[in-house]
Amino acid sequence: MNEDILIKTIARLTTAPKGILAIDESLSTCDKRFEKLGVPTTIEKRQEYRELLVTAPQIEKYISGYILFDETIKQATRSGEPFLSVLKSKGIEIGIKVDTGPVDFPEHPGEKITAGLEGLSERLKEYKALGATFAKWRSVYTIGENTPSEECMKASAEIFAKYALICQENEVVPIVEPEILMDGEHSLEKCYEATARNLEIIFSELNAQKIFLPGIILKTNMILPGKDSKVIVDALEIAKATVKCLKEKVPKEIGGITFLSGGQGDEEATVRLNAMHKLSPLPWALTFSYGRAIQNPALKAWAKNPSDVALAQALLLTAAKNNSLASVGRYEK
Ligand code: G3H
Repeated sequence: MNEDILIKTIARLTTAPKGILAIDESLSTCDKRFEKLGVPTTIEKRQEYRELLVTAPQIEKYISGYILFDETIKQATRSGEPFLSVLKSKGIEIGIKVDTGPVDFPEHPGEKITAGLEGLSERLKEYKALGATFAKWRSVYTIGENTPSEECMKASAEIFAKYALICQENEVVPIVEPEILMDGEHSLEKCYEATARNLEIIFSELNAQKIFLPGIILKTNMILPGKDSKVIVDALEIAKATVKCLKEKVPKEIGGITFLSGGQGDEEATVRLNAMHKLSPLPWALTFSYGRAIQNPALKAWAKNPSDVALAQALLLTAAKNNSLASVGRYEK
């Protein structure tokens, strides 16, 4: 393992005031979002949409890395330029989602673990040859009366460690993404408790397997009440709870921390990240790795009028800029 390569990649990814744009929705997730907006769910439409995301002028001022999906990493613009060469020419790092999605966790109804370890080393080599410098693996956990269970968190942590090791051996930075879902009526305290325990289990496993922590990025949820709880919590309270949880449970030597947006309102995701940076100094680089919170306005505009690519790209740029400002605590509503 070349530790220096991993550290340098993370430094480029977390350089202020930049963050990561996730455009790695699986085919089914992408199609669901298209369907909702009346966009045909074809490979051509996915290419067209992703072309506008990849070619958005000036996006490199705010975005350090794009996370792609297997279909997208091999696609090209309609004029024939591979997406990868467009991104590389802007100095943007190439990331790739390498898990193959959630599967049922045996004997634990409602709980999931994540598949995709089989053949991972070979796939990573292929992606690396194409230019990928970082990867992403996501596990999801639902808060319920008895979930997430210790068994599920432990099983997922073991999988994360195996994935991280394979990535690091291939000199690809692993993003470890445990997502406690917002679904449900739970309180902010419950989310805190589940996230804290899960991070404890994950880092204990990563340490046990001797994963090089300065060579990983944690991508996590913020500490939030469930989206059906109807509780309104202000950004500062969320920021304080999230930073407290991360300070308590995430080792200082980690390469960096990024957030997923997870279905928060676009503006909320921005304001909350901004509030965390008002609590500086923070012991680690802390930025965004949003999908929906950056893409939403662009996707809606494009779905309405696919020929107005310039408008969709302008909206994408504004969302990226707002989050870039938030990543250094300078966003103003
Ligand atoms: O795995 C999830 C994506 O990388 C981030 O997406 O910001 O829409 O939650 P999101």
